[in-house]
Amino acid sequence: MKAGERFVDRAAVTCILTLCLGCLHVIALKQQLFSRRGGSSSSTESPISYETLYFDQKIDHLGFLEDGTFKQRYLVADKHWQQPGGPILFYTGNEGDITWFCNNTGFMWEIAEELGAMLVFAEHRYYGESLPFGQDSYSDSKHLNYLTSEQALADFAVLIQNMKGSLPAAQQSPVIAVGGSYGGMLAAWFRMKYPNIVVGALAASAPIWQFPGMVPCGDFYKVVTQDFARSGYNCDANIRKSWEAINNVSSTASGLQWLSEEFSLCAPLKNRNDAVGFKNWLQETWVNLAMVDYPYEANFLQPLPPWPIEVVCKHLALDPSVSDFQLLHGVSEAAKVYYNYTGSSSCLNTSQTATGSLGLLGWFYQACTEMVMPMCTDGVQDMFEPEEWNFQAFSDECYAMFGVRPRADWAGTVYGAKDIASHSNIIFSNGGLDPWSSGGVTHNITDSLVSIMIPDGAHHLDLRYSNAQDTAPVRHARALEVKYFREWISQAKLHPPPRP
Ligand SMILES: *[C@@H]1O[C@H](CO)[C@@H](O)[C@H](O)[C@H]1NC(C)=O
Ligand SMILES: *[C@@H]1O[C@H](CO)[C@@H](O)[C@H](O)[C@H]1NC(C)=O
Ligand SMILES: *[C@@H]1O[C@H](CO)[C@@H](O)[C@H](O)[C@H]1NC(C)=O
Ligand SMILES: *[C@@H]1O[C@H](CO)[C@@H](O)[C@H](O)[C@H]1NC(C)=O
Ligand SMILES: *[C@@H]1O[C@H](CO)[C@@H](O)[C@H](O)[C@H]1NC(C)=O
Repeated sequence: MKAGERFVDRAAVTCILTLCLGCLHVIALKQQLFSRRGGSSSSTESPISYETLYFDQKIDHLGFLEDGTFKQRYLVADKHWQQPGGPILFYTGNEGDITWFCNNTGFMWEIAEELGAMLVFAEHRYYGESLPFGQDSYSDSKHLNYLTSEQALADFAVLIQNMKGSLPAAQQSPVIAVGGSYGGMLAAWFRMKYPNIVVGALAASAPIWQFPGMVPCGDFYKVVTQDFARSGYNCDANIRKSWEAINNVSSTASGLQWLSEEFSLCAPLKNRNDAVGFKNWLQETWVNLAMVDYPYEANFLQPLPPWPIEVVCKHLALDPSVSDFQLLHGVSEAAKVYYNYTGSSSCLNTSQTATGSLGLLGWFYQACTEMVMPMCTDGVQDMFEPEEWNFQAFSDECYAMFGVRPRADWAGTVYGAKDIASHSNIIFSNGGLDPWSSGGVTHNITDSLVSIMIPDGAHHLDLRYSNAQDTAPVRHARALEVKYFREWISQAKLHPPPRP
């Protein structure tokens, strides 16, 4: 795939989004966040019950000209809260409907009682119901200008201060930030920027170093590839070969038709551009599988069997001598594990890789401004077609979509890049199977900036409800997380903030 091919069809935004590899990881990140939603097969899930509240937030915390406000949604569950002064676990909402994250961060619901904690889930501005300009929030880039992580962190800080001010029993309550994926990045940054507001943070699968110059751009796809390599005979090798097989087969009209039928595509492939989109869709499918390779049957992006990559790889255990058609038959069977596990799909839709309806457009805007995350592939250390990271092409795409250009170095400047040792009380948890671990903190930085690795864990497995099939490392990770929470809480009790 040549860089130019990704941008052939500028007519439709959806085409740009799915054809742009620079955006692909953005889609992937989005989908990770989605991944925590959806039912778990565990029967131990605690029933969820919360109150939905709204808070008048400043549209612009960081400047003084725009003085308007909007309603930020947040959810509160205080059933187990020990008053006064019991801790508050505060979920720093990601780019989506906060009720989804709330319903699917089982870990918080499971530990609320033992910690005597209140749970708060705060929605991120511009997502779900928290729209600074109502339905017009996305209508032009003037309105989108206030969609930044710094503004979102300020929302969280002001919300907590207000809760403490209006709830006497909460005045001395230590607050711990919790988040996964982008929400995990926010949890970590929240502790860094507002140590006066939160005593510590759990940043689960938070790729805070997936920014320019911090980690090699190819590491993400290397992890995806390793997941497939360890899950079955020739699995990664056959996926690596499949791209050329698709190029070969799709070079004729009859080949395109064969592919469309073999993969039961909803819309048949008609030309070379369609074939490029098809390959991107498959690539995203493999990435998603790497993110949700959980040990038990689960339903996030899609309903999937336990250890889904092993199931996928059974269809790809083919010898190197097979024909293009035999190989692609295996690939189609493999893709259908992801898209048709329940047997209820009538066709595969190459415009979709995940169920759900988060604020994709919002995340694209964030990726096109502050959240620049370089990704690349070389086809040797990974199983994908070689594709360099092309900042200029990415920037041009952003300009075409939003009229803004990304600032590649800003995230590093504002959040400290690799130079964060002066901060404290942050847990960075990562799963070894999770491609986002490539941009995460996977070693201990200081005694209080700790990394918890879950070698056989996928994306923020630790934040999910516990499950009978959970392996020892994730059980251990959760126990360690609670241990740190308790330490931070007792530290806070020893040094309470002065009463106002
Ligand atoms: C979250 O759970 C609540 C209560 O069980 C339910 O009403 C709501 O629809 C759920 N939200 C989502 C997005 O699943
Ligand atoms: C694609 O076609 C070329 C030329 O016909 C052939 O050499 C190559 O082996 C084919 N690729 C695959 C993956 O089958
Ligand atoms: C999905 O599985 C069902 C049951 O095996 C099958 O009838 C259906 O054709 C499959 N759909 C696709 C798109 O392959
Ligand atoms: C495929 O997905 C797209 C994007 O979600 C949707 O608009 C379209 O209707 C779907 N097509 C079919 C045939 O389901
Ligand atoms: C970091 O230190 C903690 C506490 O000693 C330990 O449990 C954990 O395994 C260490 N993490 C890594 C990645 O070595």
